[in-house]
Amino acid sequence: ITIRRATIDDIICMQNANLHNLPENYMMKYYMYHILSWPELSFVATTTDITVDDDLSNDKSNTTYEEYMTLDDNLGNSIKLDPTYVKPGEKLIGYVLAKMNDDPDQSGEPANGHITSLSVMRTFRRMGLAEKLMRQALFAMREVNQATYVSLHVRQSNRAALHLYRDTLQFEVLSIEKSYYQDGEDAYAMKKILDLNELK
Ligand code: ACO
Repeated sequence: ITIRRATIDDIICMQNANLHNLPENYMMKYYMYHILSWPELSFVATTTDITVDDDLSNDKSNTTYEEYMTLDDNLGNSIKLDPTYVKPGEKLIGYVLAKMNDDPDQSGEPANGHITSLSVMRTFRRMGLAEKLMRQALFAMREVNQATYVSLHVRQSNRAALHLYRDTLQFEVLSIEKSYYQDGEDAYAMKKILDLNELK
């Protein structure tokens, strides 16, 4: 398993994983906006063990990459049929999509970052991947963009994510935002002061 910076080539896979793992989804241009504006802040976890059975490809784990690439669109381009493949032999198993808050208000709010979305494919959970992805993003925010703190929202019912943010990464709960999510669920607004010594 490798963790590396996300590139434009990864965003179809990131969007696919997001659709698969979370009800909060975004348009492709929002992923592009993140990667183009802050190319140092988003990360992906990938595996080269393409025979591994995960919930997206359990019925076709023995199919080769080439077999996925046979479909042609009308412009003569082959269409990527299995959106878990980043490239031949490399599958995306997790991502963190992160940004800086780009309109610091007039009150002189210091530079600060935001975690837009994080998820890990089911088969690869409880292995420390989300923690690693988060630490990479937080370190880059602090080191590259001088972010003094990072914020995020999480569903009140999301025990796994809450454990990760509050207990493992020591975020604090700032407030509860009522009906933050489309289905009416409340969100915890969370924040963490970024300290380079702790993040290294
Ligand atoms: N219940 C309780 N604790 C959990 C659970 C769980 N289901 N899953 C992980 N944890 C704990 C781990 O034990 C670990 O704790 P420790 O530091 O005390 O050992 C900590 O959380 C980190 O675990 P990781 O293995 O790094 O987390 P993982 O790679 O499994 O990913 C994640 C966690 C991202 C929440 C995953 O469960 C997931 O993808 N869920 C669906 C998508 C999601 O909810 N994303 C977050 C939404 S909020 C946002 O995007 C800003």
